Amino acid sequence: MSAEPDRLIQERRRLEAVYAKREREGIEAVSNSLFTPEIFFLEQEMQRAILQALKRMGINSIAAGQRDLLEVGCGRGRWVRWFLDCGFRRPTGVDLIESHIKEAASLSRAANWIRADVTCLPLPSESFDIIFTSRMFSSILDVETRRQGAAELRRVLRPGGSILWVDLCHPAKDPRVEQPGSWVHPLTRDEVRTLFPGAEFSWTRFGIDPVWSGRLTSLANRGLFRSLVHQVPFMKKRIAWPRIPMARFPYFWMQALASLGFGRVYDLSVVRWHVRADA
Ligand SMILES: C[S@@+](CC[C@H](N)C(=O)[O-])C[C@H]1O[C@@H](n2cnc3c(N)ncnc32)[C@H](O)[C@@H]1O
Repeated sequence: MSAEPDRLIQERRRLEAVYAKREREGIEAVSNSLFTPEIFFLEQEMQRAILQALKRMGINSIAAGQRDLLEVGCGRGRWVRWFLDCGFRRPTGVDLIESHIKEAASLSRAANWIRADVTCLPLPSESFDIIFTSRMFSSILDVETRRQGAAELRRVLRPGGSILWVDLCHPAKDPRVEQPGSWVHPLTRDEVRTLFPGAEFSWTRFGIDPVWSGRLTSLANRGLFRSLVHQVPFMKKRIAWPRIPMARFPYFWMQALASLGFGRVYDLSVVRWHVRADA
């Protein structure tokens, strides 16, 4: 077995340190929890966008059972488990971090789980019809690593297959200059295009960064809006009234702000290569 190159060891250590810190500070638990309203809304929007993209590709719950699906950067496997619910049989999840893969494997035996780096997948060429990736490429800071990862996805994709790419997208045209110490690099659409030369893309913008919607939620629930509503005399007595519509606010804000391309938004992109009829 070949030894792991230094670059991969360093990248793995960097990410392990990032996730260990997020876990210590409780950020991982909150930012992956459906009890967090902005995560709940984002997840629903994402599921809707993915299902619409699959439908446009002619995939329904019956066709799903005949397609091989791979997720790279699957984390603790929640999307792979969701794809199982959608009808995909024995999907495969790959992640760089061992503890993520172990947790994923402990939660479902119905999928294949592999610890590997996206730049060297231990998988045969042309073996998947659909490759899903969510918020993984934005956590790779090195341009060359992103390029090699994208080439690996192309290698293991079957002719006629599609890559479903979900990630934070930076709306500016120019690639983003990282804030010092930032551990993510939201890609622009142009950066994504350069990773897949010759491919066709269709884009769906479906939600804003939960950090933004979370701030808006707390502003709505505790701050300005509530105080303003309480200025109206008869509203004061109906304390329960503002809370009910407020709980739905992140959803509408995410929709409205995302469609305006405001702030850091989530994009879903379907990447496929045109296969000529005579090819
Ligand atoms: C932000 S998490 C997203 C997890 C999951 N896809 C989701 O959307 O909930 C990014 C995941 O990508 C993994 N990752 C980052 N770089 C990777 C690489 N080079 N190869 C494989 N996985 C990687 C990380 O370990 C982490 O679990």
